[in-house]
Amino acid sequence: MPRLIRAALERAGVEGADRVSSGVDVVGDIAIVRLMGFLAQEKRKIAGALLEEMKNVRVVLEQKGGIEGEFRLRKLAHLAGERRTTTVHRENGCAFRVDVAKAYFSPRLSTERLRVARLARPTDRVLNMFAGVGPYSIAVAKVAGATVTSCEVNEAAAALHEENDRMNRVEGLVRVVRGDAADLPGVLEEKFDRILMPHPSEADRYLPTALSLARGGATIHYYRHVLGEDEAEAAGALRKELRAILPKGARFVPRRVREVGPRWVEMAADIRLPAGREARRSSRPGAKPT
Ligand SMILES: C[S@@+](CC[C@H](N)C(=O)[O-])C[C@H]1O[C@@H](n2cnc3c(N)ncnc32)[C@H](O)[C@@H]1O
Repeated sequence: MPRLIRAALERAGVEGADRVSSGVDVVGDIAIVRLMGFLAQEKRKIAGALLEEMKNVRVVLEQKGGIEGEFRLRKLAHLAGERRTTTVHRENGCAFRVDVAKAYFSPRLSTERLRVARLARPTDRVLNMFAGVGPYSIAVAKVAGATVTSCEVNEAAAALHEENDRMNRVEGLVRVVRGDAADLPGVLEEKFDRILMPHPSEADRYLPTALSLARGGATIHYYRHVLGEDEAEAAGALRKELRAILPKGARFVPRRVREVGPRWVEMAADIRLPAGREARRSSRPGAKPT
């Protein structure tokens, strides 16, 4: 059981360590907890104890259920502290204004974001098809100095992304396209050296679109939730999915990012496309490349 919740239960004098299924997500000064199976009064006591335990936290929210819908949002309820859902989260030398009720954000991916940012080169033209409030795109612009085109369908997230571009002084390197990534081939004239697809529940539907926007030799950073008893099984499932969509000569090595549920693993692959291949045209998500 996560250490912070254990400490809060002890401090609050609440029994039931075995009922806690996950840890605390800390976004800026907001702590998000899942407390299924506890009574309302117990939840408030635990949240109060967390506020005392974590000196940098001012708000405690309860996440009810999973991360859901097209915008990948959490359903949240106030438990303790100030009544707000906005905060500023800092990681990798960047600052992000986030509204945890209106836009997706996970503090658990900062290492992965830095890894991708360090792979990018200043001359890369980068496309992030599912940008959220900008944590990947801004890290890439700031760390690598590369130019980034971000796409985001959630208006609230896109507005925060633009605010974050200014806050991190990368507005000259990053532009945000508001809308559906499936429509990008009709909107963008250029092709890209590096394409980010951080939307693991849906990325497969949009891979043909990504291929149509990639230059020869481009890298696609692909993320996917995969069912598997262990990493080897999850890697096998990802390999099978990718082989059915990718052109011949594309190379990738499946990698585990994190566990996201019982038997569900978030897997990643840095897909290297063959050099000099013709761009494939497919703007329709779900369509197999020809
Ligand atoms: C899992 S979140 C990742 C956000 C961001 N990359 C991050 O790591 O914080 C996926 C994002 O894609 C956006 N999204 C979902 N479908 C989309 C689509 N068809 N076109 C563009 N953005 C989309 C969601 O609103 C959400 O912000």
